[in-house]
Amino acid sequence: AHLWRGVIAEYADRLPAHLSEKVVTLGEGGTPLVAAPVLSERTGAEVLLKVEGMNPTGSFKDRGMTTAISAAAARGAKVVVCASTGNTSASAAAYATAAGMLCAVLVPDGKIAMGKLSQAIAHGARLLQVDGNFDDCLVAARKLADAYAVELVNSVNPDRIQGQKTAAFEVVDALGDAPDIHALPVGNAGNITAYWKGYTEYAADGTASRTPAMWGFQAAGAAPIVAGHPVTHPETIATAIRIGNPASWAQAEDARDTSGGLIEAVTDDQILAAHRVLSSEVGVFVEPASAAGVAGVLALAEQGRVPAGARIVVTVTGHGLKDPQWALRTADGSEVVPVRVSADVVSIADALELA
Ligand code: F0G
Repeated sequence: AHLWRGVIAEYADRLPAHLSEKVVTLGEGGTPLVAAPVLSERTGAEVLLKVEGMNPTGSFKDRGMTTAISAAAARGAKVVVCASTGNTSASAAAYATAAGMLCAVLVPDGKIAMGKLSQAIAHGARLLQVDGNFDDCLVAARKLADAYAVELVNSVNPDRIQGQKTAAFEVVDALGDAPDIHALPVGNAGNITAYWKGYTEYAADGTASRTPAMWGFQAAGAAPIVAGHPVTHPETIATAIRIGNPASWAQAEDARDTSGGLIEAVTDDQILAAHRVLSSEVGVFVEPASAAGVAGVLALAEQGRVPAGARIVVTVTGHGLKDPQWALRTADGSEVVPVRVSADVVSIADALELA
């Protein structure tokens, strides 16, 4: 039996040596690649989901946080900081705790899913709600790290990208080659940058025969890359990707253009519809932002733009339990109320309409 040792140990030969000096891991990576026949049928392609909600803190951020915190630990850092729409803060707080560091978190006022906020607090982060949006938080976090003995662990930190590129390695290792298309949500654009780096590295040394087309999807109310200019007041129910001025904008455009891919927008309605398909038809519970990639692939399929039989991997980035409120409303917006029954088998069977 092989015990998964976390992404640094598993991919040490493909990561910069400084990341292995003082490894801080919670066993991240090694996430399932799940076939989604329902989505394959709907799109005429072969759709597989890379289920990143299975990471230790419930999102893909853990891949980059093991590397960022390990690098910080090797440098003797005592305090780290991040700006976050929620998942980065949950991950940074957990890994900082494992490393014995203090974690400062800057989150936009009132737009953080409860699950993520609980994680950061549970792990003892110094949580500050900033009067501003994510982009304001990131500017402030960068300035703080410049002026004080504090390490920045956002994805502008290259160690983050190194860790997150391992997700592309895992996809190729599982499939034997790169897929035709890789789809994923885009917020601050670190993850599309990281996947593209991983895929190009594997292709460069012949581990994969090719690279996939990268398909990125932003929420329509927070789609600066699609619009071609920053969005001053980004708005979407997918709070994780409510970002108006992505730090890795240029790298995302490069991944799109070099791979022959695309970056497009999906509406909140499309995101919630995909969220519902994933939970009620596929069996995978994700947070709304995580459904943006699936929403995009479904939208393109409807427009006849998904090549027949293409193998498409879609990253679903974070766990549904992070932001569960969306499951408790029906498609028309009304509240889901559990059916009450007495504890006898007849009324239970009646309620289930088994007779
Ligand atoms: N999906 C989820 C669940 C996220 O939390 C994020 C980013 C993304 C997708 C987009 O990834 O930023 O690399 O393009 N969340 C960051 C955070 C911004 O603070 O947790 P990206």
